[in-house]
Amino acid sequence: MHAHANGGVGMPPGYPQWHAKRGMPCPCHSVPPDVSCRCRQSDARIVELPWSRGGSVVKDNRLAFEIIDEAKITPAQDAEIRALLFEAFPDGRTSFAETRHWHGSAPQYSVVARRAGRVVGNAGIVVRDVRSGETAVRVAGIQNLGVHPHERGKNLGGKLLEKGVAEARRRGIAFGLLFCVPQLERYYASNGWKKIDASVTMHYQGQTCPIPGKNIAMVQELTDRRFPGGDIDLAGADW
Ligand SMILES: CC(C)(COP(=O)(O)OP(=O)(O)OC[C@H]1O[C@@H](n2cnc3c(N)ncnc32)[C@H](O)[C@@H]1OP(=O)(O)O)[C@@H](O)C(=O)NCCC(=O)NCCS
Repeated sequence: MHAHANGGVGMPPGYPQWHAKRGMPCPCHSVPPDVSCRCRQSDARIVELPWSRGGSVVKDNRLAFEIIDEAKITPAQDAEIRALLFEAFPDGRTSFAETRHWHGSAPQYSVVARRAGRVVGNAGIVVRDVRSGETAVRVAGIQNLGVHPHERGKNLGGKLLEKGVAEARRRGIAFGLLFCVPQLERYYASNGWKKIDASVTMHYQGQTCPIPGKNIAMVQELTDRRFPGGDIDLAGADW
């Protein structure tokens, strides 16, 4: 068995498997990976990484995507994502200087896109049991979809949405739900979302109120189940 098959000191889970999958011997089996892992520094073919690198030694200019569970996110990853959101949402800078949790709503996981190690796109996914009409439904709520201004117009937003939704489906969640300004309806529609005609109520700081004005609700059905009709109670704050 490979020396790092169970992780090893400082070894990210999946690291030896990554080499094995590509038929490569692990060149760093005898050294701590964070000290002199030659694979990380010299392999320019890395596209999908099975762990979060955090470093920027890889010179590859292609995109890499990762799914980060909020329960495992590091302060460094949090800061990198907030830095991207700071660039993507100029109006939200005050908020993102402190937190990604809009109105206290934390994502369960985030899809993060990196180019040459830098975070260039993000989509957070809030998982919540909401009520639609008389029916309780678990939804994957899209939060903080943001693409760096230099990376726009290349369908990166579409890919982040697609990966966020695929992961929700994998986690057994039947519906996606998002809120956006009407100008973005066409954008989300082109990515498989549809507008629903429902009033949406949220609960925030002891108040029960409609979600902020000008926002519309859009859903995506991730299985055969139809999204139940009726007004929506978010059972918490919006995201
Ligand atoms: C919205 C956003 C994520 C799209 O990312 P992207 O990778 O550039 O998107 P894509 O390449 O997949 O699609 C580009 C399309 O979206 C449209 N689009 C982007 N932002 C738009 C906006 N604010 N209003 C209307 N359309 C918009 C573009 O015009 C383009 O349309 P076209 O294909 O018909 O030319 C990105 O523009 C962004 O980060 N915006 C700022 C943050 C934001 O508003 N996020 C959404 C919160 S609900």
